[in-house]
Amino acid sequence: MKAVIFDLDGVITDTAEYHFQAWGSLAATLGIPFDREFNEQLKGISRSESLDKILARGDRSSAYSADDKQELAAQKNTEYQRLISALTPADVLPGIRPLLTELREARIGIALASASKNAAFILDRLELTHYFGSVVDVTAIRHGKPDPEIFLTGAVNLGVQPADCIGIEDAQAGIQAIKGAGMFAVGVGTPSQMQGADIVVATTAELSLRMLEAHFI
Ligand code: BG6
Ligand code: MG
Repeated sequence: MKAVIFDLDGVITDTAEYHFQAWGSLAATLGIPFDREFNEQLKGISRSESLDKILARGDRSSAYSADDKQELAAQKNTEYQRLISALTPADVLPGIRPLLTELREARIGIALASASKNAAFILDRLELTHYFGSVVDVTAIRHGKPDPEIFLTGAVNLGVQPADCIGIEDAQAGIQAIKGAGMFAVGVGTPSQMQGADIVVATTAELSLRMLEAHFI
């Protein structure tokens, strides 16, 4: 085990909840039904793909021009940014800061593989940026999760082989991306949401260097 590559939203901090709330507000203004079960499909995928899925659910896929859709995605992002502007270091999920500290002390590489264009801002608000040897630039990624490209790029940036990496995710699309990259996948959530993961933890509080080393194969 030479590196751990983290997802951000829902793994490092509970911003998955803020994405849910911001999409929920937009869906409500459009009169499109929106619930937590459907929201699972939006985890890990880009803003524009998420909007397309919401519009398809409301049978409105062709109701909006490209400009209209950009405006709707911007509305969601404005609400999302309002929610994340109040983040503080206290919003790092349990177990994550100790794990990052242990990894750094053990000289194990640390990278971020987030689909979010707000990722750098969030890491700064949480005062975690200094832990990361690489924050993959999502704007340079051609294929989003479930494609493995973002995780593979994290490994390249750290100079390690994929087989020596662990990926940690809370999204089904993310687990697929980690496995497609040939890495060991740790899922945060329920086994039914984290199909294909090598191990699943209910919460990040269960994560530690010792625990990862015990399971890594
Ligand atoms: C992922 C989230 O991390 O980032 C998705 O799981 C989100 O829900 C995606 O849509 C893109 O985020 P942003 O901040 O660029 O809209
Ligand atoms: Mg996530």
